[in-house]
Amino acid sequence: MKIRVPATSANLGPGFDSCGIALSSYLTIEVIEEDSKWRVDHELGPEIPKDEQNLLIQIAEKVAPTIKPHHLKMTSTIPIARGLGSSSSVIVAGIELANRLENLNLTERQKIEIATSIEGHPDNCAPAICGDFVVASHFFREDQPIIHYVKHYFPECRIIAYIPNSQVLTKESRSVLPENIPFADAVKASSIANVMIAAILNGDLILTGKMMEQDQWHEAYREKFVPHLTTIRQIVKQNEGYAAFLSGAGPTVLILASEEKADLITFELEQMAGSAQIEQLSLDREGV
Ligand code: HSE
Repeated sequence: MKIRVPATSANLGPGFDSCGIALSSYLTIEVIEEDSKWRVDHELGPEIPKDEQNLLIQIAEKVAPTIKPHHLKMTSTIPIARGLGSSSSVIVAGIELANRLENLNLTERQKIEIATSIEGHPDNCAPAICGDFVVASHFFREDQPIIHYVKHYFPECRIIAYIPNSQVLTKESRSVLPENIPFADAVKASSIANVMIAAILNGDLILTGKMMEQDQWHEAYREKFVPHLTTIRQIVKQNEGYAAFLSGAGPTVLILASEEKADLITFELEQMAGSAQIEQLSLDREGV
């Protein structure tokens, strides 16, 4: 049995904590056999445990406490702590592992609820579960997440990821955000997000891109983690890309462009990249 969870990009600029897309980079878990102890073969780095301490197993055991230990193989092309949903992919994989090994028949909604209660926000886990583009609202009532969500087709386009060679932890990147935003600013910020979503639903990537670059919720506060964002935006503007925005909590920047413009933008980004990696991705339409 194999479980494959896509990478994700949360926020899409102004859709802070509620919008996300699934991308064509994957965490894969292969179930080899039942075993006397959990064993997770991987080459993802010494900091990731190979026994029951692995986050994947901790999540699976939380979802299904009687689950039997197995020998697993874990591979991933999702870079860690770069704003592409690596931890969310492990949470979703753990839920799915429990679901399949214990025949829990969890619904999509139940999976999103469990993942959100662990992660705190649904904008990575919902697209990782559903695929494509997902808008989700959530709040907690007595520690239980109440979720409303819509999955929708994201217009076809080229997606370029500018992935710096440094990690940013979500916790650190959230610690610089303000506790409160004045009412008038919040109205403006939410109107930008609303128009962005309407433009996505209309398939209008030019308007989508304009709104994506006018986020008022988080990007300005996170500038110190993404000094490269301004230069990338200039390159994207000069070469008629749709938008460049911070992927999740950063430091990756995602660039959307048309088929005709994407290769030139990629070339220009490669000239400034230094140790950063430039990857061409596409949308994952299916999720886990
Ligand atoms: N919405 C979250 C944030 C995504 O920007 O902090 C990070 O995982």
